[in-house]
Amino acid sequence: MIENIVRERVKSFKPYMPGKSKEEIMRKYNINPKDIIKLGSNENPWGCSKKIKGEILKEIKNLHQYPEPVNPVLMKELSEFTNIPMDNIIVGGDGADEIIDTMMRTFIEKGDEVIIPIPTFTQYRISALIHGANIKYGKYDKKKDFKLDVDSILNNISERTKIVFLCTPNNPTGNIIDKKDIKKILEATEALVVVDHAYIEYSKEEYDLTEWALEYDNLLTLRTFSKIFGLAGVRVGYGITNKNTIDYMMRVKPVFSLTRLSQICAIMALRDREFFKYSRENGIKSREILYNGLRKFKELKVYPSEANYLLVEIKNGMASGEFCEELLKRGIIVRDCKSFEGLEGEYIRVSIGTFEEDERFLDILKDIVN
Ligand SMILES: Cc1ncc(COP(=O)(O)O)c(C=O)c1O
Repeated sequence: MIENIVRERVKSFKPYMPGKSKEEIMRKYNINPKDIIKLGSNENPWGCSKKIKGEILKEIKNLHQYPEPVNPVLMKELSEFTNIPMDNIIVGGDGADEIIDTMMRTFIEKGDEVIIPIPTFTQYRISALIHGANIKYGKYDKKKDFKLDVDSILNNISERTKIVFLCTPNNPTGNIIDKKDIKKILEATEALVVVDHAYIEYSKEEYDLTEWALEYDNLLTLRTFSKIFGLAGVRVGYGITNKNTIDYMMRVKPVFSLTRLSQICAIMALRDREFFKYSRENGIKSREILYNGLRKFKELKVYPSEANYLLVEIKNGMASGEFCEELLKRGIIVRDCKSFEGLEGEYIRVSIGTFEEDERFLDILKDIVN
């Protein structure tokens, strides 16, 4: 019996629940894909740089050859984009998720502790559990609009703490963590503090903490190509930290996970600053349209956000599952937040869309809320 040899850990936890895809909704509700609006996975509704296509086609002739494990052109472009030396950057081929997994492989022995304030991105918990860590939960305090409760982190630090996850802007709440609170945590522990900046490009520029990784030995900032660059389907993410940490992580990172095609996509995305700027400006505008539109519904509470999504509390007595189902029937995909641990109540998360998608979503919402 296979159950006799599967790890107990693997038997004990629920797998990651990704947002619903257009294909799934198309099949289930028989809706024309053109009529489906996907606001469920924090993607870039404007796609990715148009400059990628031509370079991808040129690379096809090389697909029989392994990629370079570290592509110097990509490293140089990333270094210029982030203003961080190449030696301080590690790039992962399954997005930022791979960097999270690589940290676990590098630091976690069975029984070590990982501190995760919740509600937050679910992948930290799943990856920590897979690697045998024990989780200590902190909290983003609902009573204070999900502000990080710093003491809930500090009080959990022990000799076995190896990693602390701070997501800022936090997914799914959208708010950022005060810089002084992050400093306090960095100075209170030798554990690796991960500042997850997956959505940092949608926040105020002066908030970006990426360069702190050059100052604090125990800080890793996590970034991705999945959001602002519109490359969620390509799977490239990166971490920025001190060189020593990078060297250890490189020992355990899957060697060829960054494919030839993903390397090309990332390089071309970094070179197209115009698309980057366009995505950022429009993304912020779309967030404003949604925020202002959602605020008009007295049955909903929408939280301010520094990311490309908004957390919305449903206060008209409908369960989030029922609410999402009504939207799905009308071709709109949002995220039911039931799967986020520590988010008790009825919540959905709505990602930015194109301006037309935002308007259509807000229009359809009237049907459901009223
Ligand atoms: C906060 C946060 N970190 C990391 C990731 C993972 O991103 P990637 O697509 O690069 O694996 C996500 C994805 O949604 C996220 O929300």
